[in-house]
Amino acid sequence: MTTTPARPPELPARASEPVVRVSCVRHVYPDRTQVHLCGLDFVVERGQRVVMLGPNGCGKTTLLFHILGLLEPQEGEVAVFGVNPARHWNRIRERVGVLLQNVDEQIIAPTVWDDVSFSPRNYGYADAEVERMTREALERVGVAHLRDKVCHYLSGGERRKVALAGALALEPELLVLDEPFEGLDPASRADLVDLLNHLHREHGVTMVMATHDVNVVKAMADVVYVLVGGGEIVAHGSPEQIFRDPDLLRSSNIEPPVLAELFAHLETMGVALGRPLSLDDAARAIVAWGDRNARRVAPTATAASPRPKTESGELRFDFADDAADGDDEKPARPRPPRAPRAVPGDRS
Ligand SMILES: Nc1ncnc2c1ncn2[C@@H]1O[C@H](COP(=O)(O)OP(=O)(O)OP(=O)(O)O)[C@@H](O)[C@H]1O
Ligand SMILES: [Mg+2]
Repeated sequence: MTTTPARPPELPARASEPVVRVSCVRHVYPDRTQVHLCGLDFVVERGQRVVMLGPNGCGKTTLLFHILGLLEPQEGEVAVFGVNPARHWNRIRERVGVLLQNVDEQIIAPTVWDDVSFSPRNYGYADAEVERMTREALERVGVAHLRDKVCHYLSGGERRKVALAGALALEPELLVLDEPFEGLDPASRADLVDLLNHLHREHGVTMVMATHDVNVVKAMADVVYVLVGGGEIVAHGSPEQIFRDPDLLRSSNIEPPVLAELFAHLETMGVALGRPLSLDDAARAIVAWGDRNARRVAPTATAASPRPKTESGELRFDFADDAADGDDEKPARPRPPRAPRAVPGDRS
């Protein structure tokens, strides 16, 4: 009979120390491919959600492998919870949950239950604890129904969820996630965003993530790091700061989120509504803009009829008026005369 083990002895990391620091790391693979993760230091503070963006092959996975101690830098420094992970992984591994980009590399047991319970069993937790930890991890990720399934037969998305359940089983303080949304359907993707944000909010879990899915970044990131080819770390900032810089995005081969593109495009049309990145913020910006227009067009409008309507009953918005309003908005552009609307069947 096994017993519940104590966590590893207290580590030297002080509360004020970053959870992760990667400073100018150089790694040369055996075939001489060189990745030089230099430029800015990559720093993750306790409780932060940090997302890494960059083109294919720029070195995101290489950077994560250094954080996980799977690679040792030939130059530069890596510290996780205050220790060198390549040398002292045993001292921190129970505090770190991992989802690799290639999940097949981490699913090792024949069945889902065996796989997700592997770490708790391996750390010598009591049977009842192993049962609880495994069940809760499977439930959190929404794959409890797969517990007896043979891993080999899982679909791609199921495989990723099972691997994530394995990463969560030990209730880690730091989650390292490489392309966690790859292959997930929209509902599963939204569920995963909710789950990760819940872990962050309720349990203070720190997260480092590489993704190409720019549309989740606003919902998922406190800080964004941008890498370019070769591994240079060229920028970091809030999602708003990063997505406001089209030159930066172009140089890093990053497609801006749909909302960022839409609102940038509206700006070029003379409708400056800011750069909201979430649906909620976008809806609020549009409603506020509509209300401003309503007040301007019909100053006597009441709460019962807050916005003026056209003859056909549609709400009326005046683009040119709005664009002239506000400090950072572009000057109004004259509107071309509108061509009369064709009536179906009318060929005159
Ligand atoms: N084991 C390896 N041997 C040789 N070269 C490698 C190895 N692993 C990665 N590389 C190379 O290192 C560079 C960085 O790869 P990495 O996987 O870190 O990129 P990435 O930013 O994660 O890309 P992606 O967005 O496609 O996941 C690439 O040029 C890749 O070909
Ligand atoms: Mg990668």
